[in-house]
Amino acid sequence: MAVEVLPVVGTVGAWRAAVRRLAAAGTPPEAVTWSVGSAQPDLLSALPAAPARAQPIRLSREAVAGLEQAMLHRDPERFALGHAAVLRLSTGSLRWGDRSDPAMRRLLAMGSAVRRDIHKMHAFVRFREVPQDGARRRFCAWFEPEHPIAEATGPFFARRFGDMDWAIATPEVTLVFQAGNLACHPTEAPPPEARDATEDLWRTYFAAIFNPARLNTRAMQSEMPVKYWKNLPEAQIIPDLVRGAPEAVARMHAAAASAAPPAWQARAARARAALPARAGAPATLAEAAQAARDCARCPLHGPATQTVWGEGPEDAALMIVGEAPGDAEDLRGRPFVGPAGQVLDRALATNGIDRATVYLTNAIKHFRFQPRGKRRLHQNPDAGHVEHCRWWLDLERRLVRPRVILGLGAVAAMAISGSGTRLMARRGRAEALPDGAVFVPTLHPAHVLRNPDPAGRDAAQQALAQDLALAHRLSLARAGG
Ligand code: URA
Repeated sequence: MAVEVLPVVGTVGAWRAAVRRLAAAGTPPEAVTWSVGSAQPDLLSALPAAPARAQPIRLSREAVAGLEQAMLHRDPERFALGHAAVLRLSTGSLRWGDRSDPAMRRLLAMGSAVRRDIHKMHAFVRFREVPQDGARRRFCAWFEPEHPIAEATGPFFARRFGDMDWAIATPEVTLVFQAGNLACHPTEAPPPEARDATEDLWRTYFAAIFNPARLNTRAMQSEMPVKYWKNLPEAQIIPDLVRGAPEAVARMHAAAASAAPPAWQARAARARAALPARAGAPATLAEAAQAARDCARCPLHGPATQTVWGEGPEDAALMIVGEAPGDAEDLRGRPFVGPAGQVLDRALATNGIDRATVYLTNAIKHFRFQPRGKRRLHQNPDAGHVEHCRWWLDLERRLVRPRVILGLGAVAAMAISGSGTRLMARRGRAEALPDGAVFVPTLHPAHVLRNPDPAGRDAAQQALAQDLALAHRLSLARAGG
């Protein structure tokens, strides 16, 4: 009986090389015992070279990818199953994907389980910040995947978190990303229990996106299976949120989106529109805010409750421009005080930015909506509204003279730069504006709220925070320079 011991790191590559060698030597699968245990990542190079074979093994790309994925499963029989499948695939007695074959069905099921587990790891790794000893911030995470997939997820995390140093430890291996280099080592010991403010942030975030009216515990557990909960800070609050859901729904109904505006608003708007236009452009933000109250440049002012003017310091280095006020903003007369505002607040908190130091405004200053029964349904502003309202945004830009403008979404990008196209390709990159300011386009917070998939939501929230970090850094750098 041949004994094949595969390394903990580089397991799949070593298995592939061993199968090639065994096949060349004519060793049948039933004559091999497989195990994983050696910590030698370079076992491959220690193997004797495969003797020349009359017919080298040739497999389709799909078969190779499928086999490699299945070999990441925890099933102890996977290597033997894979070995047997390789031999049958190479002689043509088995076709990759043939579900009528029981061994193939098992391999395919393993591959699906592995893909699911990888997806969960992408979504559920939670970093904690650890003290910094160089220029880059350092984070660590502990994660227990169902299968030994951690090594395969390294490139994903390296791409997503390329601007910081981090380590992700799992029971088998630890991924380490330092100064742009990714390495994988066998895990010697789990990292010490660490707690930091990010955990509270995750809990706040989860509580904010939790919609009690849509509570479906079965769907929730399939998205966020209980086995992952112990390492998810936000999971600790799930039982309370679920218990409190009926009461929260009752509260939501009581505070449902506001009713259509009263009739007097239309009369007041007509009267405002009839007023003579003020002479000259306002010279201060306070004057501008006063003048904008009476704005009747486009039809949006009629049904809206009030103009939602920007807020923040007159000399803010960073201006953040959204699309248009929503229901909550229209009622309170302040930008970003509804659900999109909470997403923005989280991105600000992630970067340690005090909201009061930033000038926040919108491309459009009035809420656009469609009355539907007692509710007011948000409607996107169109190019005409952008054009009419640009006068106010340009005025705010001239008065505040921000060094950097972060534009949230395509409408803001259009109002600031004249082009709202290809936002996802442009996001997170600095663009020069004719007035000398720098423009950083990013996605709108609603993009985070609308994403039905938790992993997608996380990614969008992180992308927003990352772009905000860039804009903030640039505003500081330019302030200093
Ligand atoms: N969305 C925006 O773009 N701006 C706000 O003020 C609120 C929601």
